[in-house]
Amino acid sequence: MLPVPPVNSFASDNVAGAHPRVVEALLAANVGSAPAYGDDPWTARAVKRLRDLFGSDVEVYFTYGGTGANVVALQCLLAPHEAVICPATAHINVDECGAPERFTGAKLLDVPTQDGKLRPADVEALVRSLHGEHNVKPRVVAISQPTELGALYTLDELAALGDVAHGNDLLLYLDGARLANAVVALGCSVPQMTSQVGVDALTFGGTKNGLLYGEAVVFIRPGLGERARFARKQAGQLASKMRFIAAQFEALLHDDLWLHNAAHANAMARALAAELSGLGQVELMRSVEVNSVFARLPAALVPVLAEWSFFWTWDVGESVVRWMTSFATTEQDIAAFVEGVRYFVAGREGAQ
Ligand SMILES: Cc1ncc(COP(=O)(O)O)c(C=O)c1O
Repeated sequence: MLPVPPVNSFASDNVAGAHPRVVEALLAANVGSAPAYGDDPWTARAVKRLRDLFGSDVEVYFTYGGTGANVVALQCLLAPHEAVICPATAHINVDECGAPERFTGAKLLDVPTQDGKLRPADVEALVRSLHGEHNVKPRVVAISQPTELGALYTLDELAALGDVAHGNDLLLYLDGARLANAVVALGCSVPQMTSQVGVDALTFGGTKNGLLYGEAVVFIRPGLGERARFARKQAGQLASKMRFIAAQFEALLHDDLWLHNAAHANAMARALAAELSGLGQVELMRSVEVNSVFARLPAALVPVLAEWSFFWTWDVGESVVRWMTSFATTEQDIAAFVEGVRYFVAGREGAQ
C-alpha cells in the first residue's frame, strides 16, 4: 500500500509554518495601537537583542523577505558602475529575478565554483582582470553562509575572503538567510562568524528559522547603512506595522530559540541522510553540514517520489534532488519519508 506522506514535507525550510512561540509573540503584540514604521517598543527591543548578539552597535533594518533584504543591503553598498563578485550559484544571482541588478544598477560578476564557495583566488583573478572605466569596478564580495549547496565556509576561509576583499578595497557581504544553521554547525558566536572575519554587512534570516516572515539587514561597518532607510522604503520593504516583524524577532532571539530551531533542523537533516544512506538507488551527494540533503536518484524515480511528497529537483541534468529540514521536521516525518523512498525504490526494482 502507498505509504502516507510526511506531514512536514522536505521541499524547503520555508514550507514550514511559524514556531508556536513566534505565533504567541504575534498575538501578544496584537493589542492596542503602536507607532508605525518601526518607532515602536518591539522594534527597539528586537534591535537591542541583535546588537547584544553582535556585541556592538550594528545598524539593523527589518524587511519582509530575503530578496528584499539583499536588495536593501546591496543598494547601500554599491554605485551603479560598481560590481558584486559572487558564486554563480548565489541566490542573488539565480533566484531573485534580477532584483539586485535592477535596484542597484550594478553588475553581478558570477564565478563558477565546484561547491558554491568563492575562493580568495577567484576574487584576486577577477580584480586583476578589470581596470579603468571600460570595466565595472568591483566593490562587493558576496557570499552565502551556508551556501545554497549546503556547504559551510570555515572561519578561516571566511577570514581569508575578508582579507582579500579588504586588501582590494572591497566590502564583504554575507547572505545569512540561514546564518543560524551555520552558527550552530560551526559552534561559534555571531561575531566570530561576522565582524571578526571581516564581514561588513549581512542579512540575518528569520523566515527559514521559525518566523512567519521577516529578515534583518545588519550593517557592521559604521556608515554603510546611511542610505538604508530610504533604500528600504523604495524597495517596498518598510513594514507599516513593523511591530509584527519585530515581535517575531524578539521571540526568536529570546532564550536562544533561533539556535534551538537551527540545531534541530540540522540534526534532522543528518538523521534523514543516515536513514537514506545505503538505500539502493539513492546516492547521497555530499556530507550534511547544515539542514539540506542532496541526492542523486534514477531520473524515473524523481517525478513519482516528488508527486507523492513534493521536493525540488536541484539539477535536472544530473538528476540531483534537494531535501531540506526545518525546526518543524519530526522523526515521524523522516520515518514516513524514508518509507516512501523505500516503497518507490522497491517498486522500480520489482519492475526491472
Ligand atoms: C541563500 C538565500 N538567500 C535569500 C533567500 C531569501 O529569499 P526570499 O526572497 O524567498 O525570502 C533564500 C531563500 O531561499 C536563500 O536560500
